[in-house]
Amino acid sequence: MQYKAIRGFRDILPDQVETWNRIEAEAKRIFGLFGFKEIRIPMLEKAELFARGIGQDTDIVSKEMYTFQDRKGTSVAMRPEATASILRACIEHKLYEEYPVLKLFTIGPMFRYERPQKGRSRQFHQINAEIIGDPGPRSDSELIFMLMWFFSSLGLHDLILNVNSLGCPRCRGPFRAELTGYLKRYSAQLCPDCQRRMDTNPLRVFDCKVETCNQVVKGAPSMLDFLCNDCTHHFDSLMAYLKALGMDFVINPHLMRGLDYYTRTTFEVQTQELGAQNAIVGGGRYDKLMKEFGGPDSPAIGFAIGTERVVELSDEHTSQREKGPDIFLAPLGKGAEDKAFMWLQELRKGGLRCEMEYRSLGLKALMRRADRLKARKVLIVGEDELIKGKGILRDMVTKEQRELPLDNVVDELIRFKETSWT
Ligand code: HAM
Repeated sequence: MQYKAIRGFRDILPDQVETWNRIEAEAKRIFGLFGFKEIRIPMLEKAELFARGIGQDTDIVSKEMYTFQDRKGTSVAMRPEATASILRACIEHKLYEEYPVLKLFTIGPMFRYERPQKGRSRQFHQINAEIIGDPGPRSDSELIFMLMWFFSSLGLHDLILNVNSLGCPRCRGPFRAELTGYLKRYSAQLCPDCQRRMDTNPLRVFDCKVETCNQVVKGAPSMLDFLCNDCTHHFDSLMAYLKALGMDFVINPHLMRGLDYYTRTTFEVQTQELGAQNAIVGGGRYDKLMKEFGGPDSPAIGFAIGTERVVELSDEHTSQREKGPDIFLAPLGKGAEDKAFMWLQELRKGGLRCEMEYRSLGLKALMRRADRLKARKVLIVGEDELIKGKGILRDMVTKEQRELPLDNVVDELIRFKETSWT
């Protein structure tokens, strides 16, 4: 019997992990400059936390959660997102007492039972950042500025930043009424779920995946026409700050986001390179959620980047040679092999990524092995070279060769790497 990974769950193979690590390290570096601290939250929470936070009527909660009873009969769920858990942790540990404005990030897997396709899986990963305790709009623009800087530092360009405002409960009421009226006129074209949502939660029709529903919402009224004075001022100020920070954006009045907790600012970044699953990050303000969970009345904003999608976009930027060892030792004969084995460990201690083949092979096979490993340089040392006291250092990219004295070969290689290794 040969086992395979579960549908929608993917292995991240060694060749890809370097890209993942690079992206996550860059997020940590940049987020750190803005004062964010890491928090690690559990994979499993009471299912009720997500139902209450994200909304019972959302696709995530009603169709996509991995919910089950644990051995004591408690209904638990694999986390489909991180925001609800982060707030739960802030309240449980009273983190808000220590920091009036909390800036937190977390990185890790999320679980949603969606139909797997390119760019969409059932276990996927997110890089989340949240600012808790500031009403904005400065913090909104700062968060978006940090996000876009992160993408450009990964070498990602041609991204489209969409922004919208979903208003507050005060202006949402009249919008809801108008939207329900509009949807009722087209109810025959809506799927059974949306026909029900039309009355219970009409905003959710915007993120339905059924094509006929997508067509209907194209002509739907815009939330922006219903914003109250305070929400209009918030949105105008946000746009002014974004412009002042030199950021291009598109106002997308139909950007509703698939979670119920949003108020005011919402945003998403899209790319044209990934096909249908084109959102690489989604986020927004959720000013009422902390109180809803029993904490203080604390406004907040955050985002979650879909790591798989960013990896896919940035993978081509990492050259294969960068992933291989700095040097491959190619000794020929027992004497050279024993010496090389000792150099190997010293070179690693000196900070070089170094490999050697332990089977005794001929030069041709060793070079093939170095090439497979994508080594940058190869040190060839046969019996002749040992007698002469000089090895041959071959560059695998330019194919240039030079002699290298063997009596101090470890220091020579370390110095050479530091000074002229291109
Ligand atoms: P979300 O829009 O549900 O927001 O997810 C954010 C990002 O996660 C998406 O833009 C996408 O890149 C990625 N993603 C979502 N589902 C999948 C999937 N099945 N496969 C691959 N990637 C996926 C949230 O999760 C909110 N918690 C964001 C947030 C944080 N809002 C405020 N703070």
